[in-house]
Order: sequence, then C-alpha cells, then structure tokens
Amino acid sequence: MLQKAIGILGTGAKAPDRVLTNADLERMVETSDEWIVSRTGIRERRIAAKNEAASDLAAEAAARAIAAARIDSSQIGLIICATVTPDMLFPSTACLIQAKLGLSEIPAFDLSAGCSGFAYALAVGAQLAQGGYEYVLVVGVDVLSKITDYTDRSTCVLFGDGAGAAVLGPVPEGYGILGVELGADGSGAELLKMPAGGSLKPASLDTVTQREHFIKMAGNDVFKFAVRVMDSATTAVLKKAHLSPDDVDWFVPHQANVRIINAAAARLGVSADRFYVNVERYGNTSSASIAIALDELNSADMLRDGENVVLVGFGAGLTWAALVLRWWKRGEGRG
Ligand code: UT7
Repeated sequence: MLQKAIGILGTGAKAPDRVLTNADLERMVETSDEWIVSRTGIRERRIAAKNEAASDLAAEAAARAIAAARIDSSQIGLIICATVTPDMLFPSTACLIQAKLGLSEIPAFDLSAGCSGFAYALAVGAQLAQGGYEYVLVVGVDVLSKITDYTDRSTCVLFGDGAGAAVLGPVPEGYGILGVELGADGSGAELLKMPAGGSLKPASLDTVTQREHFIKMAGNDVFKFAVRVMDSATTAVLKKAHLSPDDVDWFVPHQANVRIINAAAARLGVSADRFYVNVERYGNTSSASIAIALDELNSADMLRDGENVVLVGFGAGLTWAALVLRWWKRGEGRG
C-alpha cells in the first residue's frame, strides 16, 4: 500500500489523575453499577481537572511517544492531532502541542473524525511520512468530560478523558502499515453530535439553557452501526493486506462498549481474547481510546516483532477506520 514501509516507532499515553467510579455516578444520576457494567463493561473513567485541557494531556502523551521512539524531538517533521474536544475551536490543538513541546516551526494540524480520529490520523500521517516529513507525531486526545451532560444518564456513564500518541517513521521492508480502510456516512451525522458552539448554532444564552453544548447520542442506533462497521471495516482492511482474521495476533478496537467488541469478535469468528480491552478503566475516550489501548499493549511488552495488529474504530460522522500493521520491534527479527 505504501511505497516506503512506515510503522509505529514509539507510543505514549496520559490519563488525568482523577477517577470517577460507577459508585460516584450512582450518587449523581439514577443509575447503578450493575446496569453500567452489564450494558457497557465500564467500571471507572478518568476526569480532567478544571484547568486541564486537551493540549496538556496530549503534550505529555506525545513526549512519552517521542522518548519511546528513541528519536530527538527535533526530528519530528509534522504533528497531527485527532480530537473533537480541542482546547479552542482555533487555533488547532496540534499547534498548542507544538508550542508546549518546544518543537520548531513544523507543520501542525487537527483532524476531526470522532472516535475514528486516531486511526484516520495514522492513515494520513503515514502518507505524509513518505513525502519528506519522515517522523510524524500522531496524537489522539479527548476531554469528553467537558462536553458531557452529567444530568443525562444515557451518556454520562460512558465517557472519560485521556490522550495517546504514536510516532510514525521508516521501518524495514515488510513491516509497518500494510493496509488502510477509511469510511464515512454523513447521513448519520444526527446520531452523535454536540449541537451548538459551531457556526450553525453559535453559543448563546439559549443554547446554554437548552444544554446544547453537550454530547447528544442515539445510543442504540450507534450501537448497531458500530457492530456492523467493526466487522466490515476489519474484513475490508484484511482483504487489502491479503490476510484473514486468523492471521491477526491483536485487535485493538475503539473502546466504547465491551458488548460491541464481543459482538465484533463473534461476527469475525475470532476469540474475544485477541481483542485488547481496557474500557473498564477508561470508559470511552473517543479519539484517544485506540491510542491508549495500543500504548498499554506496547508498554506491557505484549506486542512481538512481526505480529499482525488491527486497529479499528468507529464514531461520530458517522466514520470508521481500520488499519493493519505488522509490528516492528527494534532489536528483534530483521529490524
Ligand atoms: O464512540 C462512539 C460513541 N458511542 C457508542 O459507541 C455507544 C453505543 N451505544 C451503546 O453503547 C449503548 O447503546 C448504550 C450503552 C448507550 C445503551 O445501552 P442499550 O443496551 O442500547 O440500552 P438502551 O439505550 O436501549 O436503554 C435501555 C434502558 C432504557 O430504559 P427503558 O426505556 O427500557 O425503561 C434506558 O432509559 O436502560 C435505561 N438506561 C439506563 N438505566 C440505568 C439508559 N442509561 C441508563 C443508565 N442507568 N445509565
């Protein structure tokens, strides 16, 4: 797919310190630990401090990824930040990350693809990594607690905050990104959105009163869409790489709901054990979720040289994205 082999050289993540448990939520809305665990698998999530913004979490995750990639930060040629909760509508959070890390005047931009954002950004970054930027910093960050309505039990139990990052760069032939499948269906835009705060409905007293600066979601419709595209996007990307689900060592899915992940595993005919799951500890962190999960796997030394890894996500847009990579581990195998 790529003319030059491009892979992930290092990963990093950062979650805020504060933990919001299901017991805490029981005191805030009419819900129960039993309902949340049985319907979603979530037990707790991390919540950013009042003065903690997307760029704060992102810069820390990015610094960790750069250190893990064992390159000097001056070698980073480009920054892409996937987020739906930027510090501000503009300037981009990627520019703020650049400044926080003290990087030189390299290009930096944000990308919005909902919870598919990190996988989308890796796909875009891999193309640009071939075009002279060499080392590309890709960050997925969301601080959904800032746009979550903590009076709406149908959404507030789901979301959490965090950031994950990866450094893309050259890897030996045969390793790295083997295939990419991206998609979108804008006819589903209404199913998951924050209605106000953009050019359609700028912030006003009325939009605040109507609670339109919070996430609105048709959970059931998104659920059905998610199960369908997790399967179809994975099947499509594996076909592009001439692989079958049996060839995949690890699936790293978007962490929205353990029932969606289990249903996708069943549809693909693979054991759910090969799907990495950490939704019980973070909830749904949107653009960050795949990045944090990948970093946990990588940091725990669970990814071996030459293993096939599928990253697959879905989200607002509606969007979906799947990537298949052959993992390159420095010092092992041909690398
Ligand atoms: O990253 C992409 C974004 N989002 C997602 O991936 C989310 C996709 N959707 C889902 O994960 C699920 O649809 C939810 C977890 C959001 C909801 O699960 P569900 O099995 O689809 O439940 P439901 O929406 O059909 O609601 C079932 C019942 C309703 O009560 P009635 O109408 O049957 O009496 C809800 O009012 O559960 C009720 N309910 C709750 N009860 C206790 C909804 N939220 C809660 C809650 N606690 N937090």
